[in-house]
Amino acid sequence: MSHHKIEAKGLCYAYSDGTEAIREVGFLIGHGESVGLLGANGAGKSTLLLLLLGVLFPQEGGIYVADVKLTPKTAADIRPHLGMVFQNADEQLFMNTVYDDVAFGPRNMKLSPDEVERRVTEALDLLGIARLRDRPPYRLSGGEKRAAAIAGVLAMQPDVLVMDEPTSGLDPRARRKTMEQLKQFAHTKLIASHDIAMVRAVCSRALILCEGRLAADGPTAELLDDEELMGRCGLL
Ligand SMILES: Nc1ncnc2c1ncn2[C@@H]1O[C@H](COP(=O)(O)OP(=O)(O)O)[C@@H](O)[C@H]1O
Ligand SMILES: [Mg+2]
Repeated sequence: MSHHKIEAKGLCYAYSDGTEAIREVGFLIGHGESVGLLGANGAGKSTLLLLLLGVLFPQEGGIYVADVKLTPKTAADIRPHLGMVFQNADEQLFMNTVYDDVAFGPRNMKLSPDEVERRVTEALDLLGIARLRDRPPYRLSGGEKRAAAIAGVLAMQPDVLVMDEPTSGLDPRARRKTMEQLKQFAHTKLIASHDIAMVRAVCSRALILCEGRLAADGPTAELLDDEELMGRCGLL
């Protein structure tokens, strides 16, 4: 079964205080696509990612991963196939060394020690942070923390990489390095951000959220050059 296909159909989600965060959102993301999820603050990007991960469940509509509907029952099986990099890397790093942090997921998957070692080494190399392996995560810079968090997710070899604001809070150099790394991944990717230049560089397709609704879905370059659309969605 390929878990690369993710479909949202008629999704609606309101928080318990009545805030309607997601309104009738639908899309289909196929294998190997690199998709940017753009929207102003409060547009619903993070809520949509939490719905995709089965952390929240919609009041209406549904999410289908490889044609299996995401429910509280199926979420445990589906979640390992979706690797989530949270907006705040500090929330993701909690072990004593970078190595142990990146190894946490693979160890939890009950892989052999050799396989864990192989995956961690590969992920650290890919992100260019092999030299940080014995450092405590809390002593790293923002960009290094982000790289360690991404390495930890990649070491689990998810089918789809889901990221919330991967470049927020990074200095220009760390942002550029993160962008280079994101461009290298052949993974299916869904990247929520209001960093328009990053989405332009990394994603061939964009979904634009505007007050919880999907305002546009299409080729990145085309949508981002549409000034009327970008202005209407608070992205200019
Ligand atoms: N826990 C929550 N309770 C109530 N409303 C929330 C909660 N989290 C987010 N919201 C609201 O839902 C809407 C979408 O928020 P969010 O998904 O965080 O947007 P984004 O990630 O695009 O900035 C906003 O109006 C926000 O205030
Ligand atoms: Mg957000």
